Amino acid sequence: MQTVTEISALRERLGDSRPIAFVPTMGNLHAGHIDLVRVAREAVGKNGIVVVSIFVNRLQFGPAEDFASYPRTLDADLAQCDAAGVDIVFAPSEVELFPTPQTLSVEPSQIQHVLDGAMRPGHFRGVATIVLKLLNIVQPAVAVFGKKDFQQCLVISELVEQLNLPIRLLLAETIRDADGLALSSRNGYLSADERREASRLNRVLRVVVEALQGGRRDFIALEDEAMAQLSRHGWQVDYVSVRRGKDLAAANPTDAGLVVLAAARLGKTRLIDNLEVTLDAPSA
Ligand code: PAF
Repeated sequence: MQTVTEISALRERLGDSRPIAFVPTMGNLHAGHIDLVRVAREAVGKNGIVVVSIFVNRLQFGPAEDFASYPRTLDADLAQCDAAGVDIVFAPSEVELFPTPQTLSVEPSQIQHVLDGAMRPGHFRGVATIVLKLLNIVQPAVAVFGKKDFQQCLVISELVEQLNLPIRLLLAETIRDADGLALSSRNGYLSADERREASRLNRVLRVVVEALQGGRRDFIALEDEAMAQLSRHGWQVDYVSVRRGKDLAAANPTDAGLVVLAAARLGKTRLIDNLEVTLDAPSA
């Protein structure tokens, strides 16, 4: 495995080697990221090149968010990438990616303003901008993202489609701990007590999914029940929301492809999760 910090060195190293599968990350890697590497390797085979980027992107953090304290664990990340069979880690500095202030940005559609976008103004603009920069630098055939960040997956799908990027997007399933908690770099912020409580987020989502599968379509009541359940156990809830899976529009009782998304804070740690659900089409 090679670690490269400069764009020119990366381009030189990649040369004509193809196909490339790319996994963008902000580091502090866990089993969820390593599963994205597995998906990337499967996509390009043993003769392809798997590139992982590690870059904590300040463009996607709000002024009151955890950019400064976001865990930076490069040595451990490199060891994990090496063990997972990554070919190249691209770990640029800020100056390398932003030699001048980033004045130009990618503006996603209205999808950037709902749910997490409403809670974190500018977040998805920052994500789309850095992802486009990274895709231009690496020029992969395949790029892999995790569905834990469901809204991010939709923003990036839109980016690839609308800007005609010649890239196949692979969206990988969320990897969870045994108690259902979705793996996330931010789980490391949780105290032992909070970690025990954290699995409730997924349990609450499963209750909503089961209710939908059981025929309930009173979405607002379902959301309120789920939020009340979390609040009763000390969570500060940003949202629990039942949405249409393909575009996060408000769910309609006749929609078949839905997603239930949640974001809530336990102490200082903000966690997100989601579950997709496919319902039977209503009988005519
Ligand atoms: O999902 C992430 O880790 C980040 O949002 C990404 C895609 C690497 C962009 O910084």
